[in-house]
Amino acid sequence: MGGCFSKPKPVELKIEVVLPEKERGKEELSASGKGSPRAYQGNGTARHFHTEERLPAPHPYPGAQDCVEAAICHVKDLENGQMREVELGWGKVLLVKDNGEFHALGHKCPHYGAPLVKGVLSRGRVRCPWHGACFNIGTGDLEDFPGLDSLHKFQVKIEKEKVYVRASKQALQLQRRTKVMAKCISPSAGHSSSTNVLIVGAGAAGLVCAETLRQEGFSDRIVLCTLDRHLPYDRPKLSKSLDAQPEQLALRPKEFFRAYGIEVLTEAQVVTVDVRNKKVVFKDGFKLEYSKLLLAPGSSPKMLSCKGKEVENVFTIRTPEDANRVVRLARGRNAVVVGAGFLGMEVAAYLTEKAHSVSVVELEETPFRRFLGERVGRALMKMFENNRVKFYMQTEVSELRAQEGKLKEVVLKSSKVVRADVCVVGIGAVPATGFLRQSSINLDSRGFIPVNKMMQTNVPGVFAAGDAVTFPLAWRNNRKVNIPHWQMAHAQGRVAAQNMLAQEAEISTVPYLWTAMFGRSLRYAGYGEGFDDVIIQGDLEELKFVAFYTKGDEVIAVASMNYDPIVSKVAEVLASGRAIRKREVETGDMSWLTGKGS
Ligand SMILES: Cc1cc2nc3c(=O)[nH]c(=O)nc-3n(C[C@H](O)[C@H](O)[C@H](O)COP(=O)(O)OP(=O)(O)OC[C@H]3O[C@@H](n4cnc5c(N)ncnc54)[C@H](O)[C@@H]3O)c2cc1C
Ligand code: FES
Repeated sequence: MGGCFSKPKPVELKIEVVLPEKERGKEELSASGKGSPRAYQGNGTARHFHTEERLPAPHPYPGAQDCVEAAICHVKDLENGQMREVELGWGKVLLVKDNGEFHALGHKCPHYGAPLVKGVLSRGRVRCPWHGACFNIGTGDLEDFPGLDSLHKFQVKIEKEKVYVRASKQALQLQRRTKVMAKCISPSAGHSSSTNVLIVGAGAAGLVCAETLRQEGFSDRIVLCTLDRHLPYDRPKLSKSLDAQPEQLALRPKEFFRAYGIEVLTEAQVVTVDVRNKKVVFKDGFKLEYSKLLLAPGSSPKMLSCKGKEVENVFTIRTPEDANRVVRLARGRNAVVVGAGFLGMEVAAYLTEKAHSVSVVELEETPFRRFLGERVGRALMKMFENNRVKFYMQTEVSELRAQEGKLKEVVLKSSKVVRADVCVVGIGAVPATGFLRQSSINLDSRGFIPVNKMMQTNVPGVFAAGDAVTFPLAWRNNRKVNIPHWQMAHAQGRVAAQNMLAQEAEISTVPYLWTAMFGRSLRYAGYGEGFDDVIIQGDLEELKFVAFYTKGDEVIAVASMNYDPIVSKVAEVLASGRAIRKREVETGDMSWLTGKGS
């Protein structure tokens, strides 16, 4: 390739190169983003572990013919702060120019595959436009959630003003990188009644805690336990893709748990925690001692307490089995959803294509009113009505009537009788902390486990994370809150693990949530509890809008539909510590967001 480059320029594939041995070595080291990680023994001391103790990381340059190198642009083709997707023949990379330096990374978010080029570049990281995961541009490491994996980082060199990227074909095709992890070297693993770290709950918080411990070099025994019969799975998909089978929802294959020595006890219910003797008791009487304990039991769905509540074909959605059964029963028949919150509305949307009729029963006047406000709620309600969903608002269920034991009708307080072959109840959840009542671990009046910023409970060595906790929200004056989001559970699981290793980490993430209905996604960042005004820009009718939730003079949350990446931009501004004033969002001029926080 010769001469000057001008933009936009089609990418020219150049040469395949053989990497000299020493170059390959360097790449392997930097792929982890770190030097040798530390292994932690049960007693908390750290030592360096040998390479043979590490699982082989996928080699970024496995062989000469497995690499590709190309000159992809001129140094002046990108401005500082710009990102571009470039094709290397075997896959694309995300090219980033920041502070005069070029970085090349995987281009797809490992969570659900969003194109990161449409995300937000700020403070040395790129934030995903879909659900807010953040990746360090220097290392590719995942720095904020959701998702478990990081990005590959590719080698960049500048020669004669041209930018060259060199990458392994395998890495280009995989587009995700699992961080280097320790494996378990504890002789007691798998066959002893004591463990070093016991994690009650194999949901988002529990899994991230276990993975973080291994990423940080912890090589002692880790046991995760769950009520489920499955390995950890993607719970948010249950209400968006009710047909999905457990194996399609799995977050990690079983080989992963085996390889890294993370033991998972399925269908294992903890009934008592004895903090004095550092021991838990399972329902079948099995006892397990621990050195460090993470409580991540999530929540249990509320059920109806009306007459007929025990009839068949009434479900809450907590497991793949629940979701699969609902679709099977709803096909071509009448479905009623009780509760117009996120879960209920996602289920209603999904069932419209399967069921003969879908009805929603809700106490409030508008769906999502308390969370998203009246106007946004109404706009979303209209979208559902346009898709044949019938609403029964400002009423509740007074009776579930059955024929031969199976649901036939839902009777409302308004006296209306709705035909129903299957009913899904989505009226909220309570923390699943009943098993802690006899322990000396503090619970608040609603059953949540209060923790500090380090996810520590009142008992030394006992941590808690996820839907079951209240914690101080740093950017809302450390107000104690419960935030039952997938992303938050990940972030808290990580902080708990870091503090088990005495790393003094604090939870500081900006909450990020999403929902998906009829192929449209609504994204939300911040904490809008107690908002007193909603400023809407865009077009609600067209469902192309951004809504800013304000309290007094300050923006405390944002929601959007078809307006990417605004929610990720706002999340990034809030994460940088900068407050957003109401007047900044009232004008409709969004230029105030450009480059903020970078
Ligand atoms: C259907 C559905 C859809 C959702 N969609 C979204 C979404 O789109 N976006 C979003 O941000 N959030 C969503 N959420 C919320 C999100 O799933 C939770 O915030 C997240 O799963 C919380 O993680 P966690 O680790 O605290 O608990 P969970 O993921 O609920 O895991 C709890 C674990 O604890 C185990 N457990 C409980 N009690 C015991 C016990 N006594 N002994 C042993 N094990 C126990 C359970 O079996 C489970 O393994 C959704 C939730 C549901 C139910
Ligand atoms: S696709 Fe990137 S965070 Fe979900």
